[in-house]
Amino acid sequence: MKRTKISRILGTAELIGSDVCVKGWVRTRRGNKYVQFVALNDGSSVKNLQIVFDMNKWNDEELKAITTGASIGVTGKLVESQGKDQTCEVQAETLEIYGTADPAEYPLQKKGHSLEFLREKAHLRPRTNTFGAILRVRSALAYAIHKFFQEKGFVYLHTPLITASDCEGAGAMFQVTTLPLSNLPKTETGEVDYSKDFFGKSTALTVSGQLEGELGATALGEIYTFGPTFRAENSNTPRHLSEFWMIEPEMAFYDISDNMDLAEEFVKYCIRYALDHCRDDIEFLSEHFDPELIDRLEFVLHNDFVRLTYTEGVKILEESGKKFEFPVHWGTDLQSEHERYLVEQHFKKPVILTDYPKEIKAFYMKQNEDGKTVRAMDVLFPNIGEIIGGSEREADYDKLYARIQELNIPMKDMWWYLDTRRFGTVPHSGFGLGFERLVLFVTGMTNIRDVIPFPRTPNNAEF
Ligand code: 4AD
Ligand code: MG
Repeated sequence: MKRTKISRILGTAELIGSDVCVKGWVRTRRGNKYVQFVALNDGSSVKNLQIVFDMNKWNDEELKAITTGASIGVTGKLVESQGKDQTCEVQAETLEIYGTADPAEYPLQKKGHSLEFLREKAHLRPRTNTFGAILRVRSALAYAIHKFFQEKGFVYLHTPLITASDCEGAGAMFQVTTLPLSNLPKTETGEVDYSKDFFGKSTALTVSGQLEGELGATALGEIYTFGPTFRAENSNTPRHLSEFWMIEPEMAFYDISDNMDLAEEFVKYCIRYALDHCRDDIEFLSEHFDPELIDRLEFVLHNDFVRLTYTEGVKILEESGKKFEFPVHWGTDLQSEHERYLVEQHFKKPVILTDYPKEIKAFYMKQNEDGKTVRAMDVLFPNIGEIIGGSEREADYDKLYARIQELNIPMKDMWWYLDTRRFGTVPHSGFGLGFERLVLFVTGMTNIRDVIPFPRTPNNAEF
């Protein structure tokens, strides 16, 4: 008999009265000598299906292997349930044991393991209700992202993961090399001779697909990327990963205000999609971790994001009278505590800050007439801080060239990027959404390590 997914069985009354076949992993078994109840989960839903074994027909020996974590297949009649916790249940007629799980060794015995404990067991944590829910929400959000851009006619552009240029100019890149580390070839002046390396030059894992994204946008009009990015910054925080996924739309003929409109529409679309398609999972997460989660998601959907300049934002922070861990004044990069003050205490709404000092932003941003600021935009969210970073790009060849010189960015790496400004340059804009920060927001989790299956952070590349 063909397997039916538990999500389908629980999602319709149609199957009641018919025979079904279900397969999955045992969450619990309880009961007495007359009847045994097994809670079965197959990953399709946060809800378990109850399997009932009538002990007139079964004996203890046959059910011995049904322990928490074991994998089984059951066929039987689906009937309405007498119990108050479920609408239907399966009366077991046949049982197949696929794999046992020794109770003395299977680590996920009890309910309510801490998230810290589960991080050490990341190879098994998808078997918990919490991670099942998070991973289904993550998957639905990834789908929503493609749906949003595809329906708008954006082209999905695949940008390289191995690169020779440093997009954000932060220098926090993981080197990619096949040179023997214990015996590096040297040039006459004693430096590492990368001409002997695999690509004939020094390369690294990309921190962003934007620069190549701009090549796409200035040909295809509107593109987006969605892929892994890598940052070797040593920041051990609940919001930073060394490997994370980023969505980077890039659009020709958009100014910064078009860019902000798109960013706001985009995140709202994703949140709406998750609420509409992952209701059970979000309700489960809300119940167990964050009672305000659904209100917070609805709140973001129903309010316009506040838009103001960095300069105005800093003024509010200075006048707040609040003692921040990092003092704030015009010219400093905003810390998470400052961003969250603006969003959570002052405006009580998502905020888009624009026009940051050029010194704290990347070289490619459009320079404002004041000579001090650039047309950057950061979208700041409650509980998260920065969820999106973007800008209008500098479209003028001379201004961009001057900035590259000023920052001593090696020209040999940048000629192809500058060509977009030499040939048919256009005003254009784009932004990057940190995918895990969106998943954090939508699931109500507080640590970014809990919204990606196998997190990579400083000192941690297990699994
Ligand atoms: O602000 P960032 O560094 O911007 C860029 O990379 C631009 N090239 C984007 C663009 O304009 N196309 O990063 C964008 C977003 C941040 O707002 C944040 O959400 C996320 O990426 N992010 C991280 N997420 C997890 N771990 C990290 N270490 C992250 N660094 C940035
Ligand atoms: Mg940023």
